[in-house]
Amino acid sequence: MANSLGEETKRIVAQFDYTDDDVNKGVREFLRQMNEGLQKDGTSISQIPTYVTGVPDGTEKGLYMAVDLGGTNFRVCSVHLNGDTTFNLTYSKVAIPKELMVAKTSKELFGFLAKQIEIFLKKHHEEHFEAHVHRRKSSKAPEGYEEESMFQLGFTFSFPVQQFGINKGSLIRWTKGFDIPDTIGKDVCALLQDEIDLLHLPVKVAALVNDTVGTLMARSYAAPGKTTTLIGAIFGTGTNGAYVEKITNLQKSVDGKYDKSTGEMVINTEWGSFDNQLNVLPNTQYDAKLDQDSVNPGIQIFEKRVSGMFLGEIVRLAVVNLYENTNVSLFKGASNTNDGQSTTHIGDGSGLFQQWGLDSSLMSVAAADTTPELSTLRQELDSQLQIRSASVEDAQAFKDIADAIGRRAARLSAVALGGIVIQSGRLKETKDELVDIGADGSLVEYYPHFREMISEAFKATEGIGAEGAERIRIGIATDGSGVGAALIALVAERMENKGI
Ligand code: BG6
Ligand code: GLC
Repeated sequence: MANSLGEETKRIVAQFDYTDDDVNKGVREFLRQMNEGLQKDGTSISQIPTYVTGVPDGTEKGLYMAVDLGGTNFRVCSVHLNGDTTFNLTYSKVAIPKELMVAKTSKELFGFLAKQIEIFLKKHHEEHFEAHVHRRKSSKAPEGYEEESMFQLGFTFSFPVQQFGINKGSLIRWTKGFDIPDTIGKDVCALLQDEIDLLHLPVKVAALVNDTVGTLMARSYAAPGKTTTLIGAIFGTGTNGAYVEKITNLQKSVDGKYDKSTGEMVINTEWGSFDNQLNVLPNTQYDAKLDQDSVNPGIQIFEKRVSGMFLGEIVRLAVVNLYENTNVSLFKGASNTNDGQSTTHIGDGSGLFQQWGLDSSLMSVAAADTTPELSTLRQELDSQLQIRSASVEDAQAFKDIADAIGRRAARLSAVALGGIVIQSGRLKETKDELVDIGADGSLVEYYPHFREMISEAFKATEGIGAEGAERIRIGIATDGSGVGAALIALVAERMENKGI
């Protein structure tokens, strides 16, 4: 039986192989779909114009607010940009109550967000807040005072939004488990502003920001110098990237005003929906089942193979398949004892048998445990999944499957990043400059060797190769959305001052 566990595990692991050939096929198709998205609306890679036409250089200054919805937590922050590539950030975060993710009306969610802003202001900027309330009520308040005393707020809203301006945009679809039908097609900035106004807060929603755009801006602010950042990428609950595109390549019409002087615009790719049609993406039986049982089948197909919200579920489905295979013994332990009694058992209510019951963080534990005894992993299998006294062989089978799924995710990530690097032409345009990528999210931050595995795949990519891979630098840009959103609020303010 022990042998067959190893063999059956190998069979499953092989299903997650993503070869160099696959990477190259993936990149070609990514480039095709990217360019299709630049030509017209309604394509699988949306290529959303963001109205942000330049990246910062670190000299920007001022006090701004930012809120961030769409990652693990809802965050409210104020950011003081010091103008010397540094900043001071004050923030608070709360987990979004699960019921609000599927609330009946937008009002419930946006009302909650406004309330969090009020709590933050009262706690961290009480003077400003009180002064505002006082002067607003006073007849002596000078004309235009209200506008001046407003906090300019960058709203990081990390979902696909059709933008009509720097602070206007309607929701195309929810992703990452949110599902409030009433919000689709509405201007999310207006929804937030209405709730802020109901609470009489001194806050103007000045900019709408995707987290990838925020990450790109934050990375450019903090890591200027010889190289300018090309891509902001998130590998967290969801996955997506934004990059700097030449306006001449943007063939579809862009309504609304923007600063044309730089000849460039940041594009939010929404690559989570790359290849929804499954032209080239791998599709194991586990991927297919995950999609079928999700709230949005057929959508975000790339994201469902790459990001933290989904990877644990793919592992779970594959491991359950092995567990149910009557030819092997996994987590049953019978072969470990003389009396035939099982030493290993799975506690009632184990997440192993529940949809979304296996958290992707367990994959990081599996990848990090390289000891022969796999004791940390076995301990975590116990505490997270109530798998008591798993044998080393059991834990090894789990690890092999989890590692294969993590590695496939990293190599798929290389397809998206590599595609954009090639599209930009930056490796060819300059001889030895680095191409800089800012990345954020729990997966890239905590999954062991994620960036190295991406780099490995770059080496095998036509148009990048070993030399090119050396010149692509992926740096972690934490707090991207807070600082980035503040920077875009600043851009919005400058545009307004210029009358754009
Ligand atoms: C955070 C950013 O650091 O990372 C968010 O501030 C972003 O804007 C998030 O959405 C992504 O990571 P995760 O793991 O929270 O989804
Ligand atoms: C999802 C969202 C996208 C966001 C990404 C990362 O893919 O659709 O807007 O950037 O998650 O948070």
